[in-house]
Amino acid sequence: MDSQARAPGNLAQRLQVAIQAARSAGDILVEGFHSGEIAYDTKSNRNDPVTEFDLRSDRAIVNVIQQSFPHDTVISEESTGDRTSEIEHWIVDPLDGTNNFTRKIPHVCVSIAYCEHNAPYVACIHDPLRGELYTAIRGAGAYLNKTRLHVSDQATLEGSFLGVGTSVHPCLRQATHARVPPFLDAAQALRSTGSAALDLAYVAAGRFDAVWYPSLNWWDVAAGILLIEEAGGCSSNYQGSPFVGSISSLLASNGRFHDTILGLLNGDAVG
Ligand code: IPD
Ligand code: CA
Ligand code: CA
Repeated sequence: MDSQARAPGNLAQRLQVAIQAARSAGDILVEGFHSGEIAYDTKSNRNDPVTEFDLRSDRAIVNVIQQSFPHDTVISEESTGDRTSEIEHWIVDPLDGTNNFTRKIPHVCVSIAYCEHNAPYVACIHDPLRGELYTAIRGAGAYLNKTRLHVSDQATLEGSFLGVGTSVHPCLRQATHARVPPFLDAAQALRSTGSAALDLAYVAAGRFDAVWYPSLNWWDVAAGILLIEEAGGCSSNYQGSPFVGSISSLLASNGRFHDTILGLLNGDAVG
């Protein structure tokens, strides 16, 4: 039986709460970005920073969601609570692009998704420094502010705009870079931006034709993969299977030459 939350009215209500949460977190990030030098601690390794603004953004989002939906589970990157996913739950990255943020590179965002059975139904990615708000409800399209989004028409590797994601884990970097050569001649542009969630929003917006990452968490991707789906694109892990809510590789694209890229990521020769 369909859950109550999946009724369109309820999803619209959840999107409004996601937007409210993302905007209040965005205000915190803008304040931090324009403050003095940004201090940070590290998490899994020295390339994996966390600032007071990650934590403040996390708290602000969780508070807004819990005020409106006190019974919902919220899984947020910087919260220490129960990480087991419930049937209905929110997935939050309170600051995607923390490395950029510590260097005052203005390319960061907040990513919030509402999921059921690990499938995203509501997506909100907010780039507070550019005033860009990406939203989607499953079955109702994806939007940048008020403009409907569509993935690009690019159908070949030749002339493509690609995002090459790296990892905070040194052990994954060699393998990531080893996969780049087949794309060097054919692509018009290769970018490594430092924000996986914004990369996915950019695929939905037709700015990138495809992006891939060796290892991402569910909070990096839950909102972005719904945006891409609603904009007409697709995503998978490097094996071609859906990204299902645990740590995995990810290829997200406009769907026009997804299999070609998958092949190259898995060692095919350039055709
Ligand atoms: C990171 C960014 C980065 C990606 C890392 C992520 P964070 O998220 O999305 O682009 O390469 O794998 O962990 O730590 O800034 O939220
Ligand atoms: Ca992230
Ligand atoms: Ca983060």
